[in-house]
Amino acid sequence: MKLLTLDKVDFTGKKVFLRVDYNVVDNGEVIDEFRVRSSLPTIEYLLEHDCSIILASHNGRPDGKIVEPMSLRPVAKLLPKLLNRDVIFVDNCIGNEVDSEASYLRTGDVMLLENLRFHKGEESNNKKFAESLADLAECYVDDAFAAVHRAHASIVGVPKLLPHAAGLLLEREYNTISELMKTPAKPYTAIIGGAKISDKIEVLHELLKHVNALLIGGAMANNFLTALGNNMQSSLIEKKSLADAKKILSSAKRHNVRLLLPSDVIVAKDIEGKRGLRTTKVSELKPGEIALDLGPETMDHFNEVVAKSKTVFWNGTLGRAEVPAFAKASESLAHAMISSDAKTIVGGGDTAAYVDKANLHSHFSFVSTGGGASLELLAGKKLPGIEILMQK
Ligand code: 3PG
Repeated sequence: MKLLTLDKVDFTGKKVFLRVDYNVVDNGEVIDEFRVRSSLPTIEYLLEHDCSIILASHNGRPDGKIVEPMSLRPVAKLLPKLLNRDVIFVDNCIGNEVDSEASYLRTGDVMLLENLRFHKGEESNNKKFAESLADLAECYVDDAFAAVHRAHASIVGVPKLLPHAAGLLLEREYNTISELMKTPAKPYTAIIGGAKISDKIEVLHELLKHVNALLIGGAMANNFLTALGNNMQSSLIEKKSLADAKKILSSAKRHNVRLLLPSDVIVAKDIEGKRGLRTTKVSELKPGEIALDLGPETMDHFNEVVAKSKTVFWNGTLGRAEVPAFAKASESLAHAMISSDAKTIVGGGDTAAYVDKANLHSHFSFVSTGGGASLELLAGKKLPGIEILMQK
């Protein structure tokens, strides 16, 4: 089965509902311009085809309520600078005001809706909510690759109601990652870090069927280290994931996958690293200490494996990389990947944003905007937002 791409549908002069992933605003600020910039080629393609565009996205997890710091207004301020044209912002995504603004859109107009997740109907894929969104436009394009693993109204409900296609970003992401999954050059190493622990543990089981080595860092590693009997003191741990961590350790043995965990970490007594910053063995954390980055010994081991790999996939920063003192392991890994001969793929909102900010982007074979989405696709899962865009 093949993706329905933009060139397969005649969009000329149409009013298009364009689902993007602008899950980039934190506390009123755009913290990841990479995702916004990645959406520009599809916007430009549609504008060249005389469309008017209604952009829609979620941001954060407001749980069906209006949470002002999660508003998409900051993206509406950024977009005109990137697009060189005005962008209309409406402070809702359904309702009379939105209907009326949408009805006035003419060729070349771009409008951004407020956060879809301010309505419960988005996550529950409510039929009426999807109908209200679909009523705004004549056709639908999904370019929100980072959200295709969510069966939400704007991802699966709206395309059922309108002629639809995949945007250029989604198409490129899907093709690159599917190709990697089918024929990865071996040895194939995956490095998984980050803080969305329960989201990833399930996918790790699948990944073990494909990789030769699995390197675990970030907050994720704390679960494995605890499962092996280390006292990680005040570090971030998800108690309900400890049993899973044990299962993954035995599954790695069964699949003959080399699974590497940190042997040393950088700790502090507060997450900003202002008190008690030191490097320690993972077995020697003191009360109140929080593991916030990987230590130099661990990075030597990780980098050695990377240097011998032919394919390397990295998802999730290895420490609390937004604080420079805890970005060292991620920086070291990024450089090891860049200097290896391997095909290098980076996936994940935070990881991609880190690589982008460090100006390293162009040195990797591919940087995906998708975190959970790229992992799930790589693990061979069927993703609802992709399935709906397949040619029948
Ligand atoms: C992401 O950032 O991974 C996507 O935007 C999905 O966000 P979610 O995990 O809150 O659904």
